[in-house]
Amino acid sequence: MHIKIAVLASGAGSNFKALVSGDTAPGIVDILLTDNEEAGALKLAAELGVEARYMYPGKYRTRFGIREEELWAEYLLGRGVELVCLAGLMRIIKGPLLDAFPGKIMNIHPSLLPSFPGLDAQGQAFNYGVKVAGCTVHYVDGGTDTGPIILQEPVQVLDSDTRDSLAARILKREHEIYSMAVKAHCRGRAVYSKVVR
Ligand code: GAR
Repeated sequence: MHIKIAVLASGAGSNFKALVSGDTAPGIVDILLTDNEEAGALKLAAELGVEARYMYPGKYRTRFGIREEELWAEYLLGRGVELVCLAGLMRIIKGPLLDAFPGKIMNIHPSLLPSFPGLDAQGQAFNYGVKVAGCTVHYVDGGTDTGPIILQEPVQVLDSDTRDSLAARILKREHEIYSMAVKAHCRGRAVYSKVVR
């Protein structure tokens, strides 16, 4: 039995692609939903043969309108989606989606949370001067990049790094750990702060 996954993305979609191409069994990416008609992820979905859809997110910039979030949730429930993966969705999720998918929304973030939540986490870490950066997959609660951690991966900061070279190495690790965490969840083996491999 497959577990239907919806990926929600606003941007380039490389993590979406990693989830489609990676081993997430018994989970399978069923649909890409985006709040951005220009998202590169839409083009990737067409190339990968994954159904994709733009849905209006409401008039706000960093969150959904309440009615719109209800409509997104209704749409996903109606499709039989059982796991929602945020992959560069630049919007905070509040009531309706969280209520519809309790403990079933995951996010990837390009820092070792709880350090550097929010925008440009890679730039925040680089500018702070950390020696070890990284990425985190976590369950989503009502906060910004908060919620129980599933997997983390460290990435060494090199003397020669720029913000962008560091971000590129972190992104590669993101692609690896996101499908691992999704697979663990779908097999019922992702537990808070610990993944049984
Ligand atoms: C990724 O680095 C992801 O971790 C980050 O946006 C990028 C999306 O890239 N997400 C956040 O910062 C969420 N707080 P992608 O569209 O190529 O997957």
